[in-house]
Amino acid sequence: METMRWADGCLEILDQTKLPGKVEYINCTEHRTVCEAIKRLSVRGAPAIGAAAAYGLALGAASVNAGTRKEFLTAVEDIAAELAATRPTAVNLKWAVDRILAKLKNCDCQAVNELKALLVREADDIYNEDLASNKKMGEFGRELVPDNAAILTHCNAGALATAGLGTALGVIRAARDAGKKVSVYADETRPLLQGARLTAWEMLQENIPVTLISDNMAGYLMSLGKVNLVIVGADRITANGDVANKIGTYGVAVLAKEHNVPFYVAAPMSTIDFNLASGKDIPIEERAAGEITHFAGIRVAPEGVGVWNPAFDVTPARLISAIITDRGVAKPPYGQSLAKLRLP
Ligand code: MRU
Repeated sequence: METMRWADGCLEILDQTKLPGKVEYINCTEHRTVCEAIKRLSVRGAPAIGAAAAYGLALGAASVNAGTRKEFLTAVEDIAAELAATRPTAVNLKWAVDRILAKLKNCDCQAVNELKALLVREADDIYNEDLASNKKMGEFGRELVPDNAAILTHCNAGALATAGLGTALGVIRAARDAGKKVSVYADETRPLLQGARLTAWEMLQENIPVTLISDNMAGYLMSLGKVNLVIVGADRITANGDVANKIGTYGVAVLAKEHNVPFYVAAPMSTIDFNLASGKDIPIEERAAGEITHFAGIRVAPEGVGVWNPAFDVTPARLISAIITDRGVAKPPYGQSLAKLRLP
């Protein structure tokens, strides 16, 4: 199942809000449709929204009517800003649009049509590189997975969140492909149920044994010795190794520490924000109250109740046993190990 596909100037996005019930693609022929799909979580997961934004920028640029390179670049910058503002926490989104803008600015080409073609090529590269990066994370990460491992994961850091195999779930796939016996516990992941709807579905498709639990069961499960390790993805990792990921990840990390269960994070280097010193600087997205007051479209909380709905939390580096990247595995202290993995 492809998370998105580009064909003849149209970006088709798998509508993840409909999964697992329906497999439907949204046809995007303009960047605003991509913006809406990202905001609504039709496409979600840090690497996937980066790639979708890259194609969104190519779509937006295609319809720019500019006579000169300068006019074109100004219009593309505005579109990039719109795309980057759709979701604030996952740095891959900004990383992708910034990478394309830099490519445009560094290219001497004056012809607007050639610049438009360059945008599509760069979006293709971002998408294809993500698939390659998933494979690398799998190769590095599978070494950390023992045979007969029961692995707890939170949210969906799988194929649906990337261009291909996934980050956390990519490591699990790679361990299985290397001949290890693995099974997965999927946190349901309130409030939008990425674990119940997406991770459970993905693992079933892949024939990897999966057991669904609600988020508040993870502690008891660990206390019974039923979890050998935890692997999650990340939306942004700061220079010191603090990790923003789906709300509830921090609680799982605290529980893992209490029960001596290794807690691993898998993420590509594009998720590491070396501009931020620590997790307290990460902007955390807050989403609509209705995601909590309603369940499957039905109001479950009383009218008038106050709601706080942060979509992510920050797990401090001290709770993380290792960070699996596409350039290798970083161990504490992360300030040094992550900097070493960074390209010169
Ligand atoms: O709100 P979402 O579904 O976009 O949140 C996704 C997550 O938190 C993932 O764990 C993270 O983006 C890593 S995906 C490889």
